[in-house]
Amino acid sequence: MEQVIIFDTTLRDGEQSPGATMHTHEKLQIAKQLARLGVDVIEAGFPASSPGDLEAVQRIARETEGPVICGLARCVRGDVEAAWKAIQDAARGRIHVFIATSDVHMQHKLRMSREQVLETTRAMVALARSLCEDVEFSPEDAGRSDPEFLYEVLGAAIAEGATTLNIPDTVGYTLPWEFGALIQGIRENTPGIEQAIISVHCHNDLGLAVANSLAGVTAGARQVECTINGLGERAGNAALEEVVMALYTRRDALGLETGINAREITPASRMVSSYTGLLVQANKAIVGANAFAHEAGIHQDGILKHRQTYEIMDAETVGLTASTLVLGKHSGRHAFSDRMDQMGYHLDGEQLNRAFARFKDLADKKKVVSDADLMAIVSDEIYQPQEVYHLDHLQVSCGDHSIATATVRLRGPDGQALVDSAHGTGPVDAVYKAINRIIGAPNRLTEFSVVSVTEGIDAQGQVTVRIEAEAGADSGLAVNPQTGERRWVFTGHGASTDIIVASGRAYMAALNKMLASRGQPGSETAADRQPAEAAGPGA
Ligand code: KIV
Ligand code: ZN
Repeated sequence: MEQVIIFDTTLRDGEQSPGATMHTHEKLQIAKQLARLGVDVIEAGFPASSPGDLEAVQRIARETEGPVICGLARCVRGDVEAAWKAIQDAARGRIHVFIATSDVHMQHKLRMSREQVLETTRAMVALARSLCEDVEFSPEDAGRSDPEFLYEVLGAAIAEGATTLNIPDTVGYTLPWEFGALIQGIRENTPGIEQAIISVHCHNDLGLAVANSLAGVTAGARQVECTINGLGERAGNAALEEVVMALYTRRDALGLETGINAREITPASRMVSSYTGLLVQANKAIVGANAFAHEAGIHQDGILKHRQTYEIMDAETVGLTASTLVLGKHSGRHAFSDRMDQMGYHLDGEQLNRAFARFKDLADKKKVVSDADLMAIVSDEIYQPQEVYHLDHLQVSCGDHSIATATVRLRGPDGQALVDSAHGTGPVDAVYKAINRIIGAPNRLTEFSVVSVTEGIDAQGQVTVRIEAEAGADSGLAVNPQTGERRWVFTGHGASTDIIVASGRAYMAALNKMLASRGQPGSETAADRQPAEAAGPGA
């Protein structure tokens, strides 16, 4: 069977989802998981967008083995050079250049004529090719571009040395048969197309990203760009897990395969969800909590008689394993570590120690520690941003006739203990106000949710928060280089059997992400109060 190249852009397009901002440490962990998953190419970021992004791509290029590491660049000399700087140490690197080709983008965004776009494409693909052998070119908004012009631009990119031609449906506008016809037309009319690989990059605005990607490969594309959990701009990109499992499950009809190790799909999905703070909807295909759950009596009856009555995929294929061993307070390190392995968590020694300590603590409070509890522990203890401040201690007093009051102790960047108290409308409000008094980073809480990890009165609560902050002297943030906007969104999550503690942890996680986003050139700190400087628009 012919192979489809899986190009993962979770760390670039995926990171453009509001609130999905990740820092180098988190990106590196995800890149390593993507390598275990067996993706062929990792688009690690947009190096020209910020020094932080450049550094993250550079570290991924140096420290991730296996996949090709790719950096995105506009058709701008500085971008192409930054992308090269970021990926040049990779065992195999790729520069991905793009420029818009639809009339609406050329006229209103770029303010460039067709000739100028064509000329810029030639010059920047040639520059990229002079630096790197592997060059991908994307005509942005190809889905709404004039096909004749598209053939001309793509032909020029091939002539200058582009090795992959990526066709983005940037705004998720096309229908599957239209997108398939577009790819077919490109194959039939682009000069030199047989020398290049055709790739597809579909957005999900009409919920058609995966269908369009499959229409693209059916028409001859051999690379699919996708993201874990379908993250990405607006409604997201084609979900990697859906594309891969559709190709696998319907290989009878599609006749194509990928090099993906599907058992790593569930661990990858959990890791990305935890690091980005973006929860996966329960009914999401392949990785949603209900994707393999059968509720209706008729279905359960059918499944018990013969699994294939209602199941087209085996949950174990995507790394979902059912526990055969009950973990509780008498379980030792060995049993715990075995279960972590079975669940697809690849923890190093120090991480395992921390997770095991949390497990023991929970097992003292709960009779049975389920897989869902273990997932919450890993998410809360391991998949967290690097800490600038650590929540050391928290205590509250509240009730229907008392004023909710909280005292918190944080460990600061130099390890110093910082204590403060505040009162609020309730205990969570009081805790957040006390934390704010210490850290002094103005923000607005825009979302707060608490869900129970398991059933029962002793269950852990998992809290997710979303905060927003404006660039400026008070917040210490520059204009968001990913979006070109002044507004930043950060998410955080925390878990505990005490939901006030979980709330405190979730807030600290979001604040730590915000603090880590300070200090980029052009950003401001309350201390220096320099004017902000825009870092340029994102892709
Ligand atoms: O959606 C898009 O057009 C993109 C390009 C940069 C490939 O993300
Ligand atoms: Zn995109």
